[in-house]
Amino acid sequence: MQIIDSPGKRQTQQERFEKTRTLIYPDSGQACRELAAEVAVLIREREGSGERAVLGLATGSTPVPFYRELIRLHREEGLSFAKVVTFNLDEYYGLGPDHPESYARFMRDQLFDHIDIPAENINIPNGTVPLDRVYESCLAYEAKIQAAGGIDLQILGIGRTGHIGFNEPGSSRDSLTRMITLDRVTRLDAAPDFLGVQNVPRYAVTMGVGTILAARRLVLMAWGDNKAEIVRQAVEDAVTDQVSASFLQEHAGATFLVDAAAASRLTRRRLPWLTGSVNWDDAMERRSVLWLAKKLGKPVLKLVDEEYNENGAGELLTAAGRAYQVNIRVFNRLQHTITGWPGGKPDADDANRPERAQPFPKRVLILSPEPHDAIVGMGGTLERLVEQGHEVRLATQTSGNLRVSDVAAYKFASLVLEMAEGFGGSEWEGQEAYAKGILRQMEEKGEFGADPENVRKLKGLVLRGEARDAAKLFGIEHDALRFLDLPFYEKGRYRRFRLGDEDIEITRAMADEFRPHQIYVTGNVADPSSLDALCFQAFQTAVAQLDEAGADWLADCRFWLYRGKERPMEAHEISMAVPMSPDQLASKNEAMRKFQSINPEEIQTTERNREIAREYDALGMAEYEAIEAFQRWKRRGAA
Ligand code: F6R
Repeated sequence: MQIIDSPGKRQTQQERFEKTRTLIYPDSGQACRELAAEVAVLIREREGSGERAVLGLATGSTPVPFYRELIRLHREEGLSFAKVVTFNLDEYYGLGPDHPESYARFMRDQLFDHIDIPAENINIPNGTVPLDRVYESCLAYEAKIQAAGGIDLQILGIGRTGHIGFNEPGSSRDSLTRMITLDRVTRLDAAPDFLGVQNVPRYAVTMGVGTILAARRLVLMAWGDNKAEIVRQAVEDAVTDQVSASFLQEHAGATFLVDAAAASRLTRRRLPWLTGSVNWDDAMERRSVLWLAKKLGKPVLKLVDEEYNENGAGELLTAAGRAYQVNIRVFNRLQHTITGWPGGKPDADDANRPERAQPFPKRVLILSPEPHDAIVGMGGTLERLVEQGHEVRLATQTSGNLRVSDVAAYKFASLVLEMAEGFGGSEWEGQEAYAKGILRQMEEKGEFGADPENVRKLKGLVLRGEARDAAKLFGIEHDALRFLDLPFYEKGRYRRFRLGDEDIEITRAMADEFRPHQIYVTGNVADPSSLDALCFQAFQTAVAQLDEAGADWLADCRFWLYRGKERPMEAHEISMAVPMSPDQLASKNEAMRKFQSINPEEIQTTERNREIAREYDALGMAEYEAIEAFQRWKRRGAA
């Protein structure tokens, strides 16, 4: 079995920086299908010899596609879980098993309710034992694992703090099941699930690092760009209690199972010339020169031959000439990514510009997963596109109502009620009943309950209003602002969304009617279960269908990716850099402030734009206040 039976530390030259065995798959779907097939073999083998398979399970978005595949194997291929025993890693402290965000509930929804596992074989740490009995209950959990014969295979995800289970930085190698305090980053990551960071529990009960490492085999899964840096640290850097997942380096049966995006920071992917021979094309040359400049803290034009040689990039010089020539080439290419004309500069020579001059003006479509995303991701560019006379359409893909705080909905319903009571009269009766209905429903759902449809609608309208105000600052009004309200979002919660045909159809119809020359979109490298990734998938599928149907405008359309919540682009990934003046940055900040119903802690700041500008400056480009970065995306089969 390729994934779960790791054959010691046998490594290729490419993998030589990796201290834990790491398998890279093109996408999470394929990785999960193969892992599930191997788990099925394990379960059947055990069953055949009259034994039970003991699985350690994780929650969170990462294992969801794996659980879906197990369910499919159960339904379609008769895989039985009657002889399987499971131990979950962790549970939020204070949440009962019926709480919608408890891990007990998560496991029922995502797996246990759909397979034939006996209830008595399921073990999940108890999040509701009184404080003075937590210790005892943790000891009992450890004892139960021992009594079951230990864990055969432990499934893990990884948090951005490097945690496995909820073993936040500082957890020791030998820690056992216990109660811990959740890290700030972990709580922020969980904020959308809990409809706001203030609702995320502060404590959790988790298996310890020692408990986890006692499993016979371990598979840690990670998907999406957000996990790329922490995966690299866990796999390539020294073992440290600041990154719990790094302890897997000490376990001979541990494997990291990652998709291409989560692998993107591993040396073999990021700096491939350090792990073997590469094809020195333009992209590779640029990547290695910019890396070297950054590493040495020098502008590109000051790099010298010895520095290339001493840092493992000597081969580039053999292939491409002296440092002087290589530096100039890369400098020029980077210079050419900078443009104040994101829609192309009319009547200018566009041979060295990221976007073509003609046609002018262009029809520009900007897709925003939730209403605030495009403003945060590319507000400055949006403003320029409008100012430069393009026909800009801003389409928000989902209503974003799950982001809106209860306080905002409460405020608006109360206002309507007060108006109705203040003005009185029969014409206000409807409004009064509506407002009272909303306030009652909010009261009834309690702090963590899901919003009923009416409340979600109201929250969506609040956010819509804010989006209108923000867009108006940039001159986008009326027909230029579209709210697609994709149905998959209305029917779901974070991490549990599922795209349907209708979502694709709506996206497709809107694009086809507008016939854009440019489309800006985000989410291509996000965690595949995230909202951004699903919105990107809807876009990508819509484009593929339009292509198949022969939509002629596609041949004259360019696609630009901006970054939402994922890691910011690195200089070598950028194909268009749009600088911002201090005034433009201020106006973007003003637009972002319009989103008052969203917790500001959960919205990215413009600091990211300043960072990119600093990076360009350090590489020897002009010094700008801030920069918004874009990467060109090509549809399959396009030139
Ligand atoms: C969950 C768990 C955590 C998660 C980690 C990643 O049981 O133990 O370590 O695996 O927080 O979460 P996701 O998968 O949501 O990115």
